[in-house]
Amino acid sequence: MTQALDIRRYNSRAWDVAVELGSEWTLPVDTATVAAARQGDWSIVLTPVKPIPAEWFPPFGNARILCLASGGGQQGPVLAAAGEKAGASVVVFDNSPRQLARDREVARRDNLPLTTVEGDMRDLSHFADDTFDLIVHPCSNLFVPDVRPVWQEAARVLKTGGLLLSGFINPILYLFDQKKADDGVLEVRHRLPYSDLTSITPAERKAYMAAHEALEFGHTLTDQIAGQIEAGLALTGFYEDGWPGMALHEYMEMFIATRAVKVDSSSTLNKE
Ligand SMILES: C[S@@+](CC[C@H](N)C(=O)[O-])C[C@H]1O[C@@H](n2cnc3c(N)ncnc32)[C@H](O)[C@@H]1O
Repeated sequence: MTQALDIRRYNSRAWDVAVELGSEWTLPVDTATVAAARQGDWSIVLTPVKPIPAEWFPPFGNARILCLASGGGQQGPVLAAAGEKAGASVVVFDNSPRQLARDREVARRDNLPLTTVEGDMRDLSHFADDTFDLIVHPCSNLFVPDVRPVWQEAARVLKTGGLLLSGFINPILYLFDQKKADDGVLEVRHRLPYSDLTSITPAERKAYMAAHEALEFGHTLTDQIAGQIEAGLALTGFYEDGWPGMALHEYMEMFIATRAVKVDSSSTLNKE
């Protein structure tokens, strides 16, 4: 049964349900936050807590910005407000119609230069090559079984010299029995890469699905970091972040953020 599961479709519905339930990652920013961003006072996250360092952003100019798998009315509206005066525009791309509706609500309410596109982060064929100056991709690739296509597609739609700012989960998080970790007990149980489709019992998966919880995948650091490099991106920034309340938080920061630049591959050195 799990072999036949359409993960994109399942997780789309799961995130729609998360919107109905008011999960933290589905709550849009308010008008005051948008107004402050218009005045240059803003920050956004790729990971649970730490804001992206201001120096990671170039001056916006009339940048085309893609918020990738980033629905919920958060990063997109703030970037649209911050970049509006300079002529920047934002596209929010996500797999959940209700998450995208959040972004449209904010854009309408506050009259922002923001549009939305529904789709799968592994397939950005809606966009031509070399379209965007900046891609902001908060922690969301845990919801696809294969992350390499995400890096390949992000690199393809970025202009040369364009930036990809990404958040993702350190796969160490997925070594542990999830239920016990929720109760504060860290017991190593799983091998990496982790998959909610194959690493847990059918009964455990059934319980997640009965609760409409999104299914998750713990990608290796090779897929997360070498995956970006092999897609033609050069890493220029890195930080880690934690999530207070998780058992592992006492021991380490388990979220990672990277800044990457699409390199110019026209040099003969790059062709050897
Ligand atoms: C944790 S939320 C992140 C969004 C949020 N704005 C934030 O602050 O981090 C994860 C998002 O990934 C989206 N998502 C899950 N699977 C996806 C896929 N295959 N393609 C595109 N988006 C996807 C979900 O719909 C959800 O909006």
